[in-house]
Amino acid sequence: MPGTELFGAEERKEIEDVLSTGILFRFNHDAQRKNIWKAKDFEQEVKTITGAKHALAVSSGSAAIMAALAASGIGTGDEVICPPFTYIATIEAVLMLGALPVFAEIDETLCLSADGIKKALTPKTKAVCLVHMCGGNANMDEIMAVVKEHQLILVEDAGQAFAASYKGTYTGLFGQAGAYSFDFFKIATAGEGGIFVSNHETTYKLADNFCDHGHDHAGNNRGMENHPVIGFNFRISELHAAVGAAQTRKVPFIRKNNLKNKAFLQSKLSAIEGVSFAKLGDANGDSGTFLNLMLPDTASAKRVVDEMNKAGVTGFNYWYTNMYHFINQWEHIKELKTAAKLPIEVLGAPQDYKNLNLPKSQEVVGRLISFGVRCTWTEEDMSKLASQVADCIKKAMSTVNA
Ligand SMILES: Cc1ncc(COP(=O)(O)O)c(C=O)c1O
Repeated sequence: MPGTELFGAEERKEIEDVLSTGILFRFNHDAQRKNIWKAKDFEQEVKTITGAKHALAVSSGSAAIMAALAASGIGTGDEVICPPFTYIATIEAVLMLGALPVFAEIDETLCLSADGIKKALTPKTKAVCLVHMCGGNANMDEIMAVVKEHQLILVEDAGQAFAASYKGTYTGLFGQAGAYSFDFFKIATAGEGGIFVSNHETTYKLADNFCDHGHDHAGNNRGMENHPVIGFNFRISELHAAVGAAQTRKVPFIRKNNLKNKAFLQSKLSAIEGVSFAKLGDANGDSGTFLNLMLPDTASAKRVVDEMNKAGVTGFNYWYTNMYHFINQWEHIKELKTAAKLPIEVLGAPQDYKNLNLPKSQEVVGRLISFGVRCTWTEEDMSKLASQVADCIKKAMSTVNA
């Protein structure tokens, strides 16, 4: 959890600024706020890193992905191709907007593959919601070719991939709009928060309206502003934005250390028989937040997980059995268990969610064990971890081979 490792005077100073004026609201109050605009600062920091033309700070990454979909024109009845391996927020956002998730295969990049997208196309496909998982990046050249050929809308959930890029373009900026999460577990955190990004002005403006009850944010009398569309409250508070701005300034340092530490661990573990690593669309664009180990098959990965649990190794995720990141555990989605009726229950699901055939995704996620990379690790910490993990892998593999 790199951002949280570096909390310090910078975050405190940003919060003090906000408290000194008492203006915790991101809009208006120009006279009292002494020119302190933390949400705008946070947005500017994200634009500086990513080169996005527009950025909008919101209350969460989930809100940002919902805004990205809505502002890209995705709504009731639209089929949206989604991965079965993502944080559940991606699928929830599609469903809450009335759209219909169509699950497609991922590949060893841990993201949707171009081939998977092609196979999931139907005459009703409107969009692809690509998720850049585990700090990395998808195979964008191949995916963009499919998106263009079939005139699809591309929305990117880069919730876990802020500061990752592909051939010089930052994740989130390949399609109509993108989303980053700055929750407590990300490369940088606002406590809770997210950023919507887009290079398209009209999409950004729509997101800006959507995330604040439709407000057009014109003039300085909030109560008299126009409301071009129906929206909701996805606003970020100035306190969260203050932390987000301070943390985002630390991201170049965090990424540099993450990459160094990831390379160190990877070099220690790569010599072990049977171990490989998840692929990256562009290895130069990794954010370095996860070390993604791949074992030869699901059975051996499970054995490694068991050995690591027995040995007290911590700091890893085995997504295959995780309740929130892999479709195998999403019974509530398969059975459409809702608090109140959603459009998908009226329109009908576009696939039989209980009997999906996604063998490649099953194989990839079954083999995957991800370690969260820490930016403050010392070589001693990493050598100790690498030797513990190596022992567990060797033990697990010897059981498999016995
Ligand atoms: C891929 C992805 N999308 C969306 C989100 C949601 O972000 P938040 O927790 O900020 O709502 C997350 C958070 O873990 C995520 O990993």
